[in-house]
Amino acid sequence: QRQYLKDYRPSDWQIPHIQMHFDVQDAHVLVHTRMELVAVGDGTQTLELDGRQMALVEIRIDGEALSPEAYQCDDASLTIKAPGARFVLESTVKLDPFNNTSLEGLYAAGGILCTQCESHGFSRITYALDRPDVMSVFNVTIEADKGRYPILLANGERNAQQELPDGRHRVSWSDPHPKPCYLFAVVAGDMACKTRPYITSEGREVDIAFYCDHGIEERMDHAIDSLVRSMQWDEQRYGLAYDLNTYSVVVAGAFNMGAMENKGLNIFNPKYVLASPETATDADFAAVEAVIGHEYFHNWTGNRVTCRDWFQLSLKEGLTVFRDQQFSADCGAGPAQRIEQVKFLRARQFAEDAGPLAHPVRPESYVEMNNFYTVTVYEKGAELVRLLHALEGESGFRRGMDLYFERHDGQAVTIEDFLAAHGDANQLDISGLQRWYGQAGTPQVKITESWDNGHYTLDCEQSIPSNPSADAVLIPIRVSLLDSRGQAMIDGQVLRFDQPQQGFSFDLPERPVPVLFEALSAPVTWDYAYSQDQLKHIVRHAQDPFSRWEAAQRLYLIMIDAAYAGTTLEDQHLDVFCEVMVGEGDGAVIAALLSPPSADELTTRYTELDPLRLSQAVDQTEAALARVLGDALATQTQNLMEHVATYAFEPAAAARRSLRARLLRLWCLRGDQQAWQQAEQLYDNSDNLTDRLAALQALNQTDAAQRDILLERFYQTYKNDKLVLDRWFALQAARAGQAGLDSVRTLLAHADFDQGNPNRVRALIGTFGMLNLSALHAQGGQGVALLAEQILVYDKLNPQLAARLITPFAGLNGLAEERAAAVRKALQEIVAQASSPDVLEQAQRILGH
Ligand code: ARG
Ligand code: ZN
Repeated sequence: QRQYLKDYRPSDWQIPHIQMHFDVQDAHVLVHTRMELVAVGDGTQTLELDGRQMALVEIRIDGEALSPEAYQCDDASLTIKAPGARFVLESTVKLDPFNNTSLEGLYAAGGILCTQCESHGFSRITYALDRPDVMSVFNVTIEADKGRYPILLANGERNAQQELPDGRHRVSWSDPHPKPCYLFAVVAGDMACKTRPYITSEGREVDIAFYCDHGIEERMDHAIDSLVRSMQWDEQRYGLAYDLNTYSVVVAGAFNMGAMENKGLNIFNPKYVLASPETATDADFAAVEAVIGHEYFHNWTGNRVTCRDWFQLSLKEGLTVFRDQQFSADCGAGPAQRIEQVKFLRARQFAEDAGPLAHPVRPESYVEMNNFYTVTVYEKGAELVRLLHALEGESGFRRGMDLYFERHDGQAVTIEDFLAAHGDANQLDISGLQRWYGQAGTPQVKITESWDNGHYTLDCEQSIPSNPSADAVLIPIRVSLLDSRGQAMIDGQVLRFDQPQQGFSFDLPERPVPVLFEALSAPVTWDYAYSQDQLKHIVRHAQDPFSRWEAAQRLYLIMIDAAYAGTTLEDQHLDVFCEVMVGEGDGAVIAALLSPPSADELTTRYTELDPLRLSQAVDQTEAALARVLGDALATQTQNLMEHVATYAFEPAAAARRSLRARLLRLWCLRGDQQAWQQAEQLYDNSDNLTDRLAALQALNQTDAAQRDILLERFYQTYKNDKLVLDRWFALQAARAGQAGLDSVRTLLAHADFDQGNPNRVRALIGTFGMLNLSALHAQGGQGVALLAEQILVYDKLNPQLAARLITPFAGLNGLAEERAAAVRKALQEIVAQASSPDVLEQAQRILGH
């Protein structure tokens, strides 16, 4: 059933208090819930509770059992006639978490029981008003066999523990903060625990406790350190301190998303907690820090101030992603981090916004809310907060946040409330910003210039090609204007562009080279007819590393466009990169400068896209780059090999590893035996996963015998280590073309392929679908048919996961007809056979129904 933002009405009932008891048995769990219902206003006299996938054992009102005639129950709800404006409802339901493969509600994963309630999982645990504007104080008891489930956790603080007959025990928890039920969590299992004391800026003593499988506890140290840094950072940067005496983080054996910010009891995908040098890369260490921070920052932006309804999801997610990005930047992630963010934004969010799955940051309707945990809501949402921050400045942004918390702590609010607090705190007109939230599509900015005797004008024009009726939005353009020696005549000035067309003038001593949208100051695409010389000037001289990278991308694109069109440019076109390679500065930025865009970033660039030709054009450009770097490439790579020190996750060392990995890969692409041997040596001499994977990635698209040898060695070393083995699957799924497709087929039947582990599924099928255009479109429509077949497998097992695997098919509109037909056929097959609302909604949206 489709939900509409415009239909929002406050709830007729509130539930100030909920008490729950979980009785964990060998093959089922009984959940007893007691809640106080209070009518709002006169209320209506019917009460409709949400509830799915459970068996109702008993229901009572004010202590009296209800006879079956007194209520109606269907597969999504339970309706009763309310006896008055205030009463107590008790229910007992029976759940089967042991066969719940959807990983929503209460489920078993790797021997533990855990929950995932956002957005509507709570109504798979008990009958409830499953909406975020109903907030309750929860008390929870859990009872289970003590041998099998020695650890019993819920939100808030632990009050009591009790031994019971037959080797069972009971633990009770209470959370004093009223919260929406999507933040509810329980966990039961046998896990190792690591603790750390923390004292907040307000003097509160907090017990931090992290739980994971026995024997790998030390892999949680980096996550625990990251949490401590997050807590300190939020105190210092935003004046926000933690508000309970317990903060627990549990590693779930199987988890659909990154992690979940349940109040006081976060539940995590193991990928974002466990990290040791041998089992996690530099990027993984950074991701752990970011996600630990993200979930912690939700405690204020999400939990203390929550969403009125699910259309407001970006209120908490866009803001919290922005906060975690700020946190990572403050922890020392350099400019390469911003480059990575923008690459991801363009490859995924711009593509989403240009296709049939486009939706505003605040969607207007949905069938299955889980389909709207998107790059648009998260990443574009974060860009809009970044944009607000750029307009207000650091202290203005802080004033806006302070007022937001002062007004709305403890409430369930809207995106307007957030913008209004910022607007009021800074006397800022937020209407041009507000429009961003209501319209889909990436704005396109066309910039032309004129030069008249010292008078320089940038003429800007905005539109949304995919959404022609869209109104003009407020677009901050951060510009620098370089003179012929590369000095900035204008340095990082922010232009407020909020009309359909607008000119900005400068009086200058000479005609400049404009550096536009520094650090990508707004989530737009932009055109300016740069000459190759201007682009090289920017690569050489711009202050902003991001803009140097941006200009480099445009140089590569000239080459890729030519190759795609069937002509080739001289390698000399890329000669500026010889200077870049040997230049001074941040190795991670140099590595990014030496990386042409990948094919998956360019799927919306060409009409009637031929994906195989695009992959080839990208490969040719990369090969040209490897050639033009000449002998210096080998020398530079070897120089970087010499200082292989003991691994530490530390910015300078990580930057060095990233440059080494990039150069080694380019060198290996030249088919040079010596390069292949270097890769093998790096693999063998290194003490960490980052370098080992660098070696494997360098060889992955080559015919080197070393590739197969090292892959096998890797498997033997890591076959019992789930997260690392995911990389082994992903590497093979990333092999280009037919070889990639063949690997995916073979690996689907591998003994270590596990349909119940979403990380494994994403490593194999996700890599193939999202990142490997040439394999997906290999062999006529065979690759496409394989993906469709897999989507149907997960449609039954894990609909949320299935609905995400479908996104590669959203590129349909841009594809050349023959390719589009194969995809359309696959989608029609999916619509005919799928049963989950998740998959059906996505497939139908893509087909335009
Ligand atoms: N709120 C979580 C986060 O921090 C995401 C959970 C979404 N889960 C889901 N099944 N929709 O981003
Ligand atoms: Zn989040």
